[in-house]
Amino acid sequence: MTKIAVLREVAAGETRVAASAETVKKFVALGASVSVEKGAGLTASVSDAEYEAAGASVGTAAAVLKDADIVLGVQGPDPKALKGLSKGAWVVAGLDPFGQRKRVDDYAKLGVEALAMEFMPRITRAQSMDILSSQSNLSGYKAVIDSAGAYGRAFPMMMTAAGTVQAARVFIMGVGVAGLQAIATARRLGAQVSATDVRSATKEQIESLGAKPIFVESVAGIEGEGAGGYATEMSEEYQKAQAELVSSHIAKQDIVITTALIPGRAAPRLISDAQIASMKPGSVIFDLAVAQGGNVEGSKADEVVLKHGVKIIGHSNTPAHLPADASALFARNLFNFLSAFWDKEAGRPVLPDDDEITTAIRLTKDGKVVNERLFG
Ligand code: NAI
Repeated sequence: MTKIAVLREVAAGETRVAASAETVKKFVALGASVSVEKGAGLTASVSDAEYEAAGASVGTAAAVLKDADIVLGVQGPDPKALKGLSKGAWVVAGLDPFGQRKRVDDYAKLGVEALAMEFMPRITRAQSMDILSSQSNLSGYKAVIDSAGAYGRAFPMMMTAAGTVQAARVFIMGVGVAGLQAIATARRLGAQVSATDVRSATKEQIESLGAKPIFVESVAGIEGEGAGGYATEMSEEYQKAQAELVSSHIAKQDIVITTALIPGRAAPRLISDAQIASMKPGSVIFDLAVAQGGNVEGSKADEVVLKHGVKIIGHSNTPAHLPADASALFARNLFNFLSAFWDKEAGRPVLPDDDEITTAIRLTKDGKVVNERLFG
C-alpha cells in the first residue's frame, strides 16, 4: 500500500499544511495510507483529531517518514530530515527550485524524486494542480484586505448625516491571477478601481470586472505576452511611456497594489521613490512582489515602511496569512495531481517519462538533477 507522509512545515512564518481532512479522505479512498506529523495542521486550523477522523495516522516525524513512498509539503522539507527515506520515494511540494538550488542537489544525492509543484505547466489539464494560481488568487484578496486595514479611511462612498465619505481610489498594477482577484475584492468593498498590465489581453478582463484600464497606447508592437501567457520584459521605450502614464495616475490614488512578476527574473520596478512622494499622505501601497525583489522602491518584506507619509506593506509569504483556505486549496492541488496519475493496478501514481507534466515538474531522479530549467 502506498504510504503518503505529511510533515509539519518548519520554514519561518509558514503556517500552511499540505493536506486537509478532505484530501486525506480522498487519498484513503484511492487505497493509500496517510500519515500526518503531530500538530502539522494546527496553524491552518486542522486538528490531529480531524486528520485521524479522516483516516490518517498521526505520529512523530520519524514515524511518519518511515517507509513513506510520497512526502507532501507546502515548502520543500530539509533534506537532512529525509535521510531515512527509501530511494525513489517522491517529495512533492513547492520546492523553490531556483531559490533553493543546493537543496535540489541534496534531494538528488538522497536518491529521491523531487517534484516541484510551481513548475506545473499552464495547460488546461493541469489547471486544477496549479499552486501558483490557487495561492495567488488568495494573495490578491488578502492584499486588498490588509491594505484596507492599514488605510485610515473607508473604502466605499458613504453618505451620512455628518457628511459624505469619498470612495477610495484603488490602482492595481499587474493583472494576472492575483491582480484580477484584487480588482474584484476592491470593487466588492466599494472602491473606485483602475488597473494596468503589459499584456494587452488583460484590458478586456479589467473592464469586465468594472474597473478602468490604464494602458500605454502610443508605443507600437507591445503585446507583452510571452510563453505560457506570462509577461515578457518590455522595451525601454515602453517602460518610459509606462512610467510617465503611471506617474500622473498614481498621484491621484489612495491605494496601489502591485503584483507584477516576470518568471525567472527579478520583479520589475514599477514605483519609484519620486512617485511615492507624489501620493497623498495616508495612502497605502501593497507590494505583492516584495519577496521576489519588489515592484516598489524601498518596500521591505514583513515591515510597514513609512515613506513620504505613505505606508508601504508587503508580506514575504502572503498565502500564509490565510492559512486555512490556502492550505485547503494547496492540498487539493496536490491531490488533483497525484490522483490524475494514479495507476489502480499498481496502487500508486505513475508518471510517464514523456508526459508534459512529468518533464516540467520533475527535478531529480535516480540520483541526478534532470530538469532542463535548472541547467544553464
Ligand atoms: P505573474 O504572477 O507572472 O505576473 C502578474 C502579472 O504582472 C501578469 O499579468 C503580468 O503580465 C504582469 N506584469 C509583468 N510585468 C509588468 C509590468 N512591467 N507592468 C505591469 N504589469 C506587469 O502572472 P500570473 O498571475 O501567474 O498569470 C499569468 C498568465 O497566466 C495570465 O494570463 C493568467 O491568466 C494565465 N494563467 C493560465 C493558467 C492555465 O492556463 N492553466 C493558470 C493560471 C494563469
